[in-house]
Amino acid sequence: MWGGRFERRLLPELERFSSSLEIDFELYPVDIAGSLAHARALARADMLSKARLSAIERGLRKIERELDGGTFEFRETDEDIHTAIERRLTELTPAGAYLHAGRSRNDQVALDLRLYSRWAASQLVAAVAGAVDALASQAREHASWLMPGYTHLQRAQPVTVGHHLLAHAEPLLRDAERFRHAYDAAGEMPLGSGALAGTTLPIRREGMRSELGFDRLSLNSIDAVADRDFALDLIYACTSASIHLSRLGEDVVLWASSEFGFVRLADEISTGSSLMPQKKNPDIAELLRGRSGRALGSLVALASVLKGLPLAYDRDLQEDKAALFVAVDSTLDSLRAAALLVQHLAFDRNRLAAAAADPNLLATDAAEVLVAAGKPFRHAHEEVGKAVRAGKLAPPWSADASLRKRTAVGGPDPRRVAARATAVHRQAAALKTWSSKRPPALPK
Ligand code: ARG
Repeated sequence: MWGGRFERRLLPELERFSSSLEIDFELYPVDIAGSLAHARALARADMLSKARLSAIERGLRKIERELDGGTFEFRETDEDIHTAIERRLTELTPAGAYLHAGRSRNDQVALDLRLYSRWAASQLVAAVAGAVDALASQAREHASWLMPGYTHLQRAQPVTVGHHLLAHAEPLLRDAERFRHAYDAAGEMPLGSGALAGTTLPIRREGMRSELGFDRLSLNSIDAVADRDFALDLIYACTSASIHLSRLGEDVVLWASSEFGFVRLADEISTGSSLMPQKKNPDIAELLRGRSGRALGSLVALASVLKGLPLAYDRDLQEDKAALFVAVDSTLDSLRAAALLVQHLAFDRNRLAAAAADPNLLATDAAEVLVAAGKPFRHAHEEVGKAVRAGKLAPPWSADASLRKRTAVGGPDPRRVAARATAVHRQAAALKTWSSKRPPALPK
């Protein structure tokens, strides 16, 4: 591809070190879409005849079928998916040699990664919506089921199962906004930037932008080939969602233990022990917790790659893909697994109610009764604290009545919880609609 300047080839031992094919293989659908848009722009600029454009289009479609069907033959010398596709195209048609005019692999990979990121972000939004839906359904069913709420993992005050489950849905809804932001950040169309300084050829960028469904044109050719902020944003959103799923997994692990006994693990979400016949383990919940490390690892990896790079493209940037794909794949998997896990949780009403019946959970209520009668809160706190110490606390009302007094927005009153669950369902539906309206899902 750059044979003119060279007498000898890269050492074969270094070819493997340099190659990114195993990883960027995944980009072939977006790479082909980008090449089609670029070829059409060349034709509109009279840089490519109609006949050659058709030959290129036919060739790229054939290559796509070969890649889809697993019949594409890679060569030792294919450095990445972009060179492999161009090499194959020139085998299929002499017109292939015209394709790369006015384009560099630098703006080509910048384009492909943005297209991939937009696809991934819209998939992730739909997957978040699935997990949120599962939480909201369970929350609505258990809107009034009492359970102890915790701080420091010590029983604190009564809440409901529904309220607690929605406390896992809210952060995921925030993650959906993070994914939508990452989608938007990847909305700049970089083709036309060339290696870093654009091109002298009269290619118009607007047509490629609209064909590929981007929101805007990148406005600086150096920045366009160097920018990976959108990938970092997307990985951060993955990290945030993974941390939230990890916390959900940890709650399920605790609840499923004999010590808590708040949920029974359905067979469909449990695994057994190869040695201990009695065991039923919450492996799926544990994996939500454990796998969250992957996205965080990717965040650190890409930030480290970017830190200290000079403008514009540097080969270090090739490492962006491994980090991004790992974060996206593991987060999508975890979100889908979390939805199934939550759907299958079977709560034990009696165990939950017994735990919530601890009268000390109403100590704060007792203090607030004194406050309502005019006592300074500090004095009330002291008085009730003494009663607890002496084992003589008389709670003013039941845990259930306590909940029904907590009617402020965001509180655990069962009617509030049920209403919030309904609203969360609506938000999840809106996210699914948003996702389904994004540009066609390019990657296979
Ligand atoms: N495989 C490379 C990457 O993913 C393609 C870009 C190569 N560009 C270059 N100037 N060597 O980053």
